[in-house]
Amino acid sequence: MDFQRLTPELITAFEQIVGSEYILTPQLAEADAYASYGRDHTEDLHFAPEVVLRPANAEEISQIVRLCHEHRLPITARGAGTGLSGGALPIHNGVVLSTDRLNRILKIDERNLQAIVEPGVINQVLQDAVREVGLFYPPDPASKGSCFLGGNLSQSSGGPKAVKYGTTKDYVLNIQVVLPTGEIIWTGANTLKNATGYNLTQLMIGSEGTLGIITCIVFRLLPFPQQNILMLVPFRQEEQAAEAVSETFRAGIVPSGMEFMEREAIEWSARYLNIDISLPEDIRAHLLIELDGQDLDQLYKEAEQVYAVLEKYDVGDILLADTAAQKDELWKIRRNIGNAVRYNSVYKEEDTVVPRAELPTLLKGVKEIGGRYGFKSVCYGHAGDGNLHVNIIRGDLTDEQWNVGLQDPISELFRLCVKLGGTISGEHGIGLVQKRYIGIALPDVNLNLMRGIKQVFDPHGIMNPGKIF
Ligand code: LAC
Ligand code: ZN
Repeated sequence: MDFQRLTPELITAFEQIVGSEYILTPQLAEADAYASYGRDHTEDLHFAPEVVLRPANAEEISQIVRLCHEHRLPITARGAGTGLSGGALPIHNGVVLSTDRLNRILKIDERNLQAIVEPGVINQVLQDAVREVGLFYPPDPASKGSCFLGGNLSQSSGGPKAVKYGTTKDYVLNIQVVLPTGEIIWTGANTLKNATGYNLTQLMIGSEGTLGIITCIVFRLLPFPQQNILMLVPFRQEEQAAEAVSETFRAGIVPSGMEFMEREAIEWSARYLNIDISLPEDIRAHLLIELDGQDLDQLYKEAEQVYAVLEKYDVGDILLADTAAQKDELWKIRRNIGNAVRYNSVYKEEDTVVPRAELPTLLKGVKEIGGRYGFKSVCYGHAGDGNLHVNIIRGDLTDEQWNVGLQDPISELFRLCVKLGGTISGEHGIGLVQKRYIGIALPDVNLNLMRGIKQVFDPHGIMNPGKIF
């Protein structure tokens, strides 16, 4: 793609659209604040935008996009910048369009169990608002306290609750989108069913900002489950923890959380949070299992069934959290593993996913590949979904080892996922950093279909160029 560069005339035009307060250029903005728009949570990557725009609404975004389309200027939409595959990085420079000012919950429709929300609303803010009226928005990425819902849609985000409740895609009914030509459309209808033509709503979800900019979302909601039970189960063998996962489902239980944490994952996170936990020497991994529903007696019955499954394995003392504070602390440790790893070292995050019963084979494969190539990994993740986050630690690796040397082992790891019936990303997307591996998961026929779709939506290729394929 031949892109044009930003001109003084375009800066003036953008300024007229968003107002002088909401345009940032390297010359005008404070350096650190400006640099933050060129980063997300992916490794230590940085690309400088030529200009940052903070529009207020879909109409302004449409005007901006029209100008970019006309002048062949790359445009990269950005939510909170918590992504882990580099989706928000402006690798061809150009415009970074921040959605942070589109941050209103427009309506909570208690009659229809729906919410109409702008993309810059923080995930937790929506969860809290709907909970006040007894409703539930389940998708809960680890970064729920800061990530934006628009980003959740773009990356098809998951989180611990996905195992029972599904991912972001399962809660979106309708999306307002500014297309790469500047036109504004709604993708579907505010209904639970829709058999009217191709499903543009689901096409937008996970498209990583390459097909349009999300400006409004209609979510469906559920009644809030009032009761839950949380247990932390220590295992003496990692693979047994992975095996117990599919056995639990086979026993007829669908937990609302089924998280795997290697010993080091839990230790690093506790240390990072200054929480004192001393694990017995022989414990290698944990499962964090949550059951939820409306009836506590029923949940205790299910917990008995879980215990019966666990009896088959070599487990240590099971901790049944008995206060809300204890539950919060356990979840806090789980949610902060990524932050703790980042605090320790630059790392590559591989978001491997396989059918749940193949998890033990995947885990064994990760360690075997790591041993053979000599890299260290910290593994944890959404075991109930067969979704294992493999964090490869940079440690003392040289630039060459880090940038080139890891490509072979990562390819091997991804080939193993595909062989087991899985794929190379469960919830973090392809973005920039997994792009080179997408051919392992998808043949050319599939990729060419995707390229064709991209071409139809974005004939000049201006929208988040250089991502996915
Ligand atoms: C988590 C993020 C990294 O599960 O997806 O912690
Ligand atoms: Zn995750």
